[in-house]
Amino acid sequence: MASPLLLFRNTTLSTLHNHYRHHRPPLPAVLFSIKRRRSHSLYSTQMEGSEITEEVEVTVKKTIFVAGATGNTGKRIVEQLLAKGFAVKAGVRDLDKAKTTFPGGNPSLQIVKADVTEGSVKLAEAIGDDSDAVICATGFQRSWDLLAPWKVDNFGTVNLVEACRKLGVNRFILISSILVNGAAMGQILNPAYIFLNAFGLILIAKLQAEQYIRKSGINYTIIRPGGLRNDPPTGNIVMEPEDTLSEGTISRDHVAEVAVEALVHPEASYKVVEIVSRTDAPKRSFKDLFASIKQR
Ligand SMILES: NC(=O)c1ccc[n+]([C@@H]2O[C@H](COP(=O)([O-])OP(=O)(O)OC[C@H]3O[C@@H](n4cnc5c(N)ncnc54)[C@H](OP(=O)(O)O)[C@@H]3O)[C@@H](O)[C@H]2O)c1
Repeated sequence: MASPLLLFRNTTLSTLHNHYRHHRPPLPAVLFSIKRRRSHSLYSTQMEGSEITEEVEVTVKKTIFVAGATGNTGKRIVEQLLAKGFAVKAGVRDLDKAKTTFPGGNPSLQIVKADVTEGSVKLAEAIGDDSDAVICATGFQRSWDLLAPWKVDNFGTVNLVEACRKLGVNRFILISSILVNGAAMGQILNPAYIFLNAFGLILIAKLQAEQYIRKSGINYTIIRPGGLRNDPPTGNIVMEPEDTLSEGTISRDHVAEVAVEALVHPEASYKVVEIVSRTDAPKRSFKDLFASIKQR
């Protein structure tokens, strides 16, 4: 992983952080690393005229906010981000559940309360001005509230997008679903399309949120997986353009991987991708997979 070697003078870490957040193309987990040459001992300082030059190495990680972090896909996204060297802000509804989901103190993991139905102002506070991107892995939980899918999967995601706009966060990854646009792709009689919309218009709620993101101007990747499985990945990822896949399944581990890889591949920008896995599919690199999808 190449980290730019920067010399800085009369500037601060946060200035650099903000500059990189807004002006750099997608980067690996480490946003920047600053190394200053030093002489002999660990905390040595060196006199240069009247100036004291302290020689330190500081690595600033990219921080990713994950909404729905205690969910089945959300927790996998958090784990994979941490494994790849990102710092993570895990947005959760239930702090006690989060303690069980993420036991042990990882210094790169911060847990913050974030209910997406509570509006964009509160969400902006949770995301904070140090997040470089937002990944949304929320999904309504079954309840007697028939409007829950609309509140979470549509308005909740819209609230997250609005929070990003307030903060100037310009990267948004959404876990959506295949068949969200089933009616337009001739799948109105597909049992999955009928079933999911019968319970609170789930797919239509997600499609509305997708459309909001696409008009927002924010750099997005909308990931539409097929049916989600908890078992480890089998086969290889198949990635298709929007409104293509109407069946198939995929491991949540694979979905998390696609979400994390979307952050580091510029080919994923402003795209909607549909994914399933198949045992007979060839293995392709993520760069190749994302590049094969056209922006619309
Ligand atoms: N199931 C499938 O086969 C399938 C297929 C395609 C796409 N999808 C979509 O993929 C996404 C991930 O699915 P999944 O099964 O991994 O999700 P999941 O396990 O049901 O997790 C959903 C997460 O959303 C959180 N959440 C619910 N309401 C919230 C709110 N108001 N504010 C903040 N967070 C909230 C939940 O919080 P708690 O942890 O506190 O409950 C949970 O962490 C969902 O959008 C789902 O619709 C699912």
